[in-house]
Amino acid sequence: MRNSKIVLLLLAASFSLHAQTTKNKKIKPRNEFVNELMAKMTIEEKIAQMVQFTSDGTVTGPASGSNFVDEIKKGNVGSILNATGVKYTRQLQELNMKNSRLKIPLLFGYDVIHGYRTIFPITLGETASWDLEAAKKSSEIAAAEAAASGVHWTFAPMVDIARDPRWGRVSEGSGEDTYLGVQMAIARVKGFQGADLSANNTVLACTKHFAAYGAAEAGRDYNTVDMSERVLREVYLPPFKATVDAGVGTFMTSFNEIAGVPSTGSKFLMHDVLKEEWGFKGFVVTDYTAINELIPHGFAKDSLEAGERSLKAGVDMDMVGGIYLKFLKQSLQDGKVTQAQIDDACRRVLEAKYDLGLFEDPYRYNDEKREKQTIYKQEYLDAALDIANKSMVLLENKNNTLPLKKVQKVAFVGPLVSDEWNIIGSWAATGDRNGYAHSVQEGVMALLGKNANVTFDKGVEIIDPKRDMMQQALTNAAKADVIVAVLGEFENMTGEAASRTNIQLPGIQREFLAELKKLGKPVVLVLMNGRPLDLTWESENMDAILEAWFPGTMGGDAIAQTLYGENNPGGKLPMTFPRTLGQVPIYYNHKNTGRPYYGAADPQQKYKSKYIDSVNEPLYPFGYGLSYTNFNYSNLKLSSKNLSYTGNITVSVNVANTGNYDGEEVVQLYVQDKYGSVTRPVRELKGFKKVLLKKGEKKTVTFDITADDLRFYDIDMNFVAEPGDFNVFVGGNSDAELTETFLLVR
Ligand code: GLC
Repeated sequence: MRNSKIVLLLLAASFSLHAQTTKNKKIKPRNEFVNELMAKMTIEEKIAQMVQFTSDGTVTGPASGSNFVDEIKKGNVGSILNATGVKYTRQLQELNMKNSRLKIPLLFGYDVIHGYRTIFPITLGETASWDLEAAKKSSEIAAAEAAASGVHWTFAPMVDIARDPRWGRVSEGSGEDTYLGVQMAIARVKGFQGADLSANNTVLACTKHFAAYGAAEAGRDYNTVDMSERVLREVYLPPFKATVDAGVGTFMTSFNEIAGVPSTGSKFLMHDVLKEEWGFKGFVVTDYTAINELIPHGFAKDSLEAGERSLKAGVDMDMVGGIYLKFLKQSLQDGKVTQAQIDDACRRVLEAKYDLGLFEDPYRYNDEKREKQTIYKQEYLDAALDIANKSMVLLENKNNTLPLKKVQKVAFVGPLVSDEWNIIGSWAATGDRNGYAHSVQEGVMALLGKNANVTFDKGVEIIDPKRDMMQQALTNAAKADVIVAVLGEFENMTGEAASRTNIQLPGIQREFLAELKKLGKPVVLVLMNGRPLDLTWESENMDAILEAWFPGTMGGDAIAQTLYGENNPGGKLPMTFPRTLGQVPIYYNHKNTGRPYYGAADPQQKYKSKYIDSVNEPLYPFGYGLSYTNFNYSNLKLSSKNLSYTGNITVSVNVANTGNYDGEEVVQLYVQDKYGSVTRPVRELKGFKKVLLKKGEKKTVTFDITADDLRFYDIDMNFVAEPGDFNVFVGGNSDAELTETFLLVR
């Protein structure tokens, strides 16, 4: 007995020693390792690295129909998406390693967009914070939770510039502005990938959707895109390029075509621009079955041709479509694709797996103890609350209705007042929709305590027009000092495949507000929504409006803290809010036209670029947001009236907090190039700084402008700055009026 026990102990020790040495054994440098591995691989094994199937987890597109387990057993799979959790991913990895002749690990990808389990505000909402540190922080936390749960790769950041609120996916991006979008994209890539991809708290990022997906005609998802190369390069591509320079490991193609060429088959985009011009060394994955969709696009007659056109364009991995697996070997034999093209794609995928440390230890991200210790860490929940607070945008506050006073009797009403499901928004990964997220009701009670003088009533549904709950809500509201209505959209009314032709509050919510208004009490509207809405009626009839977006796991606490003044809202709109859908597309950095309309004061009003039934101005412009305090701008100065091509101009402005609350202000710098070899926008964001000013405090904020900041694609498509006159505008939104001029001189 003694001997067998000793033998068992020795065996166990030797196993763990072997496992340890396997885990820590230093493998050869990447190029050497990958070259040696590829030299052993068959064509089938190389193609397998270009194949991704979805597991039986979340469905994020048309049903895949593949039996991914069988395909793993056959060694046909390089990556799996939608598999999460240490246990499940370990099972799939073990199945793979057992069947992989050369022991090539699976790569697990998942949509970790604004949090993995701890959920942050939707990306559009987080962007409203204009806080790059916050964006980086939330991505770091999302990566830490995802990596602790067996996920290697996130399909984020989504960097699509969008100017059309009908498109549901505006919720996932950084809004309409290229400069802000660039800064946010860099912050999020750095947050997800950190300094070391092989660390067990970072994940491979994926810049998507390449490219110009946000410009779909009529805001209808997956719809046609057609634009000049100048607009593509000036407005839509910079955030993508910025992520390449920030070291992003992967890209994802977009579903749309641009000018007749679907992105997934676009050699111009994937090879010429991304891999050649920008020098991208990572790999490109398609969006979900996007290769197959080249057929309905009318860009390929069959799957064989679809696969060939994608590979030749520079697409390295087929998400779920199964076309690379089924047809690439035949295409190679037919001479339609080359071995070099397949080798290049395979290599890029293997290099990513190497960088993640998966060859050293395929189970590096499968530690159950670490998973339990990482998920929902208090510091993560604290960060989610902080970022949700920073994302709040105050749109109206007549007669200083807000902040509320704790002694006031407040009737909280609305379909989202006790909601814990929609509050974490769409694309909420493994976020808990059944009770973990804090509703507004929970947040208010946590803040005020059980003796709070408040009532909570739903009143109406989000879409369902039934009125049977309304009277109860009105009765309680009639007894209150102040009414707070928490209204908005369902989370699945934004995100993918969620375009709307009507961007007003859905259902009978506006009718409910009108009934509340009749009670003669101050009415505060709190919005949970994933896109700019048409709030014209609300802006005229509500006493205060707080844009809360879908604020995430701690959203209810953030809304409560903001309503009661524990948090002074400092967010600024990342997208224009139109007066009516009829103005769309509407964005601040528009062109002047030959007949610009300068508003009602314009002496000659008829033959101007305007409407006969609406003003041109939006309801709320890009960069707009109020505060409980006031900020006064003065003393705008330039260090020189002339800017040379090698020099810089320092712009300085004084900002004073003249109100009664400490607060943060996003000081924004806009520049106008008054004329050029091509027309130029009336103004463009070229810098912003978020400053905290205590009440009564004044600070001088400075920006530097160089000729590089003024470059654009000239009449010959050269990316240059042209000499001439420029205007500078500085203020708290894109309508900033404080202005100065300078000359760019050779
Ligand atoms: C979806 C989305 C894309 C997502 C992918 C995987 O269709 O377009 O953003 O990353 O499929 O879920």
